Amino acid sequence: MGFLEVENITKKFGRQTALDDINVSIERGELVCILGPSGCGKTTLIRIIAGLETADGGRIYMDGRDCTELPASKRNLGIVFQSYALFPNMTVHGNIMFGLRQKKELPRDEANAKALEVLRLVDLLEHKDKYPRQLSGGQQQRTALARAIALSPDYLLLDEPLSALDAKVRVKLRGEIRKIQRALSVTTVMVTHDQEEALTMADRIIVMNNAVVEQIGTPREIYNHPATPFVANFIGMMNFYEREGEVCAIRPENIALADRRDVYDASAKIQSLEFKGPLTRIHGILPGAEEIFVDISSEAVDNLSLRENSMIFLRMPEDNVMKYSEGSLI
Ligand SMILES: Nc1ncnc2c1ncn2[C@@H]1O[C@H](COP(=O)(O)OP(=O)(O)OP(=O)(O)O)[C@@H](O)[C@H]1O
Ligand SMILES: [Mg+2]
Repeated sequence: MGFLEVENITKKFGRQTALDDINVSIERGELVCILGPSGCGKTTLIRIIAGLETADGGRIYMDGRDCTELPASKRNLGIVFQSYALFPNMTVHGNIMFGLRQKKELPRDEANAKALEVLRLVDLLEHKDKYPRQLSGGQQQRTALARAIALSPDYLLLDEPLSALDAKVRVKLRGEIRKIQRALSVTTVMVTHDQEEALTMADRIIVMNNAVVEQIGTPREIYNHPATPFVANFIGMMNFYEREGEVCAIRPENIALADRRDVYDASAKIQSLEFKGPLTRIHGILPGAEEIFVDISSEAVDNLSLRENSMIFLRMPEDNVMKYSEGSLI
């Protein structure tokens, strides 16, 4: 049994099914991302794990113990949600002290030592006497994180903790959260709808769609062997085409250019070239008018003098082609 077990969880809001028989097993110390489009049930699932929402059916086990009926306050969790909900009338230091004094009932000097320790960990020592309104979004979110980990929780639950931040801060905080999570080896479940965030941070990713789990796997498994066309399409860029009644899929970077005199699988006319630094993404049009995306090195684009309206000849190596039948990977 995993350190956190989600077993047959279902949840409806009126006639709307938010979760349909969800099963997940998470190991101690893992960081697992729940990834999926808006409305697929991510927040509902993490709220049920937190004990902030009750499921209609199913069980939640924490460290082998059935916690399904246990209130959130008894679950030993650190929670950080998108809206930071810091106490506006308390300093950074005060915000962290509050939980330590109230929840853990630590004596003042012990709480103070702990607060300073976590503030150092999230690199906020120099801002400890500021009020939330005097902090940047990233600093506020780090304060919320510090407040959550100060309580030495068994589980850290994060619901889109970075989504309110600008791109640069988000990337920086990703790395910091991951580092802190590793250092504390705290079992962490993080909701995101940002695939790059999930791919870079997670030990494993739970991909959800329409209230169900589509796939659970490591970032590499999910990227290289997407279990369903939905996952293939949702994560990274994917070309789909039909061959002999099967749905085939290949990633833009796995298509090779061939010479027109060689053997090739398809030809395409270049509609546009999207320079992305070392790589260029070719938007091509197949003879049947379908779009195809091919990523090749920008150097090769220059060497071959490729431009709009050039013809290209494509090879799709069998090993790189994924085939789906009736919605599942063959
Ligand atoms: N309190 C509620 N009352 C009624 N319907 C709800 C409630 N909470 C969620 N839902 C519905 O349940 C479904 C799942 O919602 P949820 O908030 O879990 O999605 P999400 O994956 O977190 O989406 P987002 O990425 O937009 O945050 C949605 O269709 C939503 O409208
Ligand atoms: Mg949500």
